[in-house]
Order: sequence, then structure tokens, then C-alpha cells
Amino acid sequence: MEQKYAKLIFEDEGKEILLPIVVGTEGEKAIDITRLRRDTSYITIDPSFANTGACYSEITYIDGERGILRYRGIPVEDLVEKTSFIETAYLLLHGKLPNPDQRSKFSNLLNVNSMLHEDMRHFFDGFPRGAHPMHILATMINALSTFYPNVDALSLSEHIDLSAARLISTVRTLAAFAYKKSVGEPVVYPRHDLPYCANFLNMMFDSPVAPYEIDEEVVKILNVLLILHADHGQNCSTTAVRIVGSAQVNLYSTISAGISALSGPLHGGANQAVMEMLRKIEKDGNVQKWVDKAKDKNSNFKLMGFGHRVYKTYDPRAAITKKQCHEFLKKMKIKDSLLDVAMELENAALKDDYFISRNLYPNVDFYSGIIYRAIGIPENMFTVMFALARLPGWIAHWKEMVDGDNKICRPREIYIGKPLRRIED
Ligand code: SDX
Repeated sequence: MEQKYAKLIFEDEGKEILLPIVVGTEGEKAIDITRLRRDTSYITIDPSFANTGACYSEITYIDGERGILRYRGIPVEDLVEKTSFIETAYLLLHGKLPNPDQRSKFSNLLNVNSMLHEDMRHFFDGFPRGAHPMHILATMINALSTFYPNVDALSLSEHIDLSAARLISTVRTLAAFAYKKSVGEPVVYPRHDLPYCANFLNMMFDSPVAPYEIDEEVVKILNVLLILHADHGQNCSTTAVRIVGSAQVNLYSTISAGISALSGPLHGGANQAVMEMLRKIEKDGNVQKWVDKAKDKNSNFKLMGFGHRVYKTYDPRAAITKKQCHEFLKKMKIKDSLLDVAMELENAALKDDYFISRNLYPNVDFYSGIIYRAIGIPENMFTVMFALARLPGWIAHWKEMVDGDNKICRPREIYIGKPLRRIED
């Protein structure tokens, strides 16, 4: 295909430069500025990278205007209908869904790597009782790297199934152990006879005095939630993983950086913040007042679970969780007044020009917490669920970066500080 160019004219210098235009699979366009500084001494500036592509990637396609999300070309709507979270994880890692033999090999790796080193169990005793599980998780995963020393990036990438299985499985165990620790119950070990989601639920809710009965409806909706959160392009935490990983940090510490980024209320922490917001609005009883507060620039209140850097229409994941939320609560005969508050809030906001004119719609975090709550997962574990789900996405991006040019990420800046001066000035 003929190479197209953008022409950049420096009027006051009477010069111009042609910059190659690159076009993605779905027609997204970018201007390749990799030679800009060398050819013109100029750099570009784009704080928060809203207009900047950080990499070429084959993993996830998002169309923010049309509300499209596909993993390796497959729409998430199809994946939630026809695959399990582990099959989708394999798809993200390998670019194709596993055949039966690959599926059973990967499942076996998950089982074999589901146990924590017994010494790690004592680490939990060092955390204060109220420690947030996301901080425990980030710390424990960093600690994991001390149990698997000399895991250089390249060998990990070559044995990606083992590396991924170790993380996807161990982090599930860590999450369940962190929960049991927080409620003062004995930990429940993983079982080799249970698939991923059922195993997690059993580790979370089984107890020596009250055996947990695994409900297939709960397993099904947990698979849906984890699939919907499994990847999302160059979001804040995935960018953190790519940047930290570009320094050839080991995979576990790199993932720990992703978990820290995800914990923020503007990112993955929003699913917990949504519930806190809905409860506050329910108590107050006046939805419109909070919609108005979210529009008021003097209040630092935002509608949590609303708005998105990329989606300028309804987040397709929010549409699925909204539908699944209604169906699941009905099936489980659960009445949650916060769902009514969420619906009322969404209706009020989507009728308001402030939200319409800014293309602010519910995002993945708006309804997911109501489902987690119906499953019995405590709110301070909601973002941990997001982290569990996002692991395959983070690992796939890390592998794509390691297998690629893998240059260290090091942006520049425009200095606007003090000019040269002496200490005595
Ligand atoms: C996730 O990037 C990803 O893909 C992330 C994620 C993933 O899967 O990895 O999708 C997961 O993080 C979802 C987002 C979860 N966060 C929240 O729900 C927190 C609430 N949302 C906002 O903080 C905000 O919408 C962001 C952070 C999500 C996006 O922020 P942007 O892109 O920086 O948008 P912005 O702040 O520039 O907003 C544009 C305008 C501003 O008003 P004006 O200056 O034009 O007057 O919209 C307003 C904002 O004040 N606005 C909101 C709002 N979100 C944006 N006003 C009220 N409530 C909101 N939620």
C-alpha cells in the first residue's frame, strides 16, 4: 500500500517535514514521530497521553465511539457467551483459543502452581488487620519474585504458559488468603478437582464449619465478570506494566506495579467507590442533588463508574454487566436497593446535557460491584477481583513488549523551571 505522509510546516523557520502516516487494522490513523526530534529538534507534548499511541499491539481493539471491544479480534460479547475466563486468558496470551489438549495442559499448569510457598503464609501476619487487600496483593506479588529468583524476562517469555499460570493461579490463592485473613478465618487451600472460578469461590467461602456449596450460576457470572475485565488496551495499569517491564524488571514486580496503578479510584478502584457513592445517595434520598453536585466544578465529587478516556458512548462491558446484573439478582432471588439507585442515577445523568455533551456514560465499574456484592464478595475485595481478571491482559502486553523491540520507556519533558542561577542567587 502506498505510504501516505502528514506535512508539518515550521512557518517561522521556513522549513517543513513529511511524517509517515500509519493505519491500524480497523483504520485507526497515527502520525509516526519516531524521527521528529532527530530531523527537527522538536518533541511533541501530550500530558496524560490522551492523543499519544505508546505502541503497536495485536491484543485488544477498542472503538470508543462505537462501543466496540474485541480481544484478538473476537468481540467480548461472543467470549462471555461461549468461553470461560481461562480460555479467554489463553486467547489473550497466545492469540487463539486453546484446543482441548492446550486447554487441559494450561489447566494442569494452573493447578500445579496454585499453592503458595508455606513461608509466604506467614507474611500475612505482618499486615495490620485493616490493611486493604490491594496493598497486600501488590506487596505479596512483589515478594513472589524472591521465591522464583533469576526469572529473567526472556526465559519467562519463552515459558509464558508457566509464568502466566504461576501468576494467574497464585494471585487467586493470594487474594482468597488475604480475604480469609481479613475475616479471621482459616485459609482454604486450592483444589485440583475444581475449575478456576469454582476453586476461587471455594477458597473464599468454604469453612470447616459450613461447607460452601458451589452454585453454577455464581460460577457462570464470575466467569463473565473476569472475561469483561481481562484486558483493555493501554489503560493506566497496563501502561504501568509496559513501562516498568521495559526496564527488564522481573514479571512479578512488573505486575505488582500494575496492581498499584489499578488500585486508584480513577481506575480499578472505581468499582468499590461506586458502591460507597450509591450508599451515600441512597441514604440521602435525593439522586438529582448528587447529579448536580457531579456537575459543580467547585465540588470535587464525580459520578464514580461514569465517564471514560476512550469510550464516548456506552461502555460495552457496562451494557453486559447491567443486563447480567438484573438477570442474576432475579435468578438468585436477591433484591438490592442499590441497583435501583444505580438505575435512577443513570437515567437522571443520561438525560442531563452536562453528561450528554461530554459523552459521559456508565463504564465497566458502574454495575459490576452490585454483582460482586450479590455473590458475597466484600467491597474491599472488588478491585482485587479486577486485578485477578486483568492479569492475563497485563501478562500478554508484557510478553508483546518483551518479544518486541523492548526499548526502555523514557519520555522527555519541556522544562519551564528557573533559568541558570548560582547557589547564592
Ligand atoms: C477504568 O482506561 C481504561 O481503559 C480504564 C478501564 C480499564 O478497563 O482498564 O476501562 C477501567 O478505569 C474505568 C474508569 C473508572 N473510573 C471512574 O469511574 C472514575 C470516574 N470517572 C472519571 O474520573 C473520568 O471519567 C475518567 C478518569 C474515567 C476519565 O477521565 P478523563 O478522560 O481524564 O476525562 P476528563 O476528566 O478530562 O473529563 C472530561 C470532562 C471534564 O469536565 P470539563 O472539564 O469538560 O468541564 O468530563 C467531566 C470532567 O470534569 N467528567 C465527569 C466525570 N468524568 C469526567 N464529571 C462528573 N462525573 C464523572 N464521572
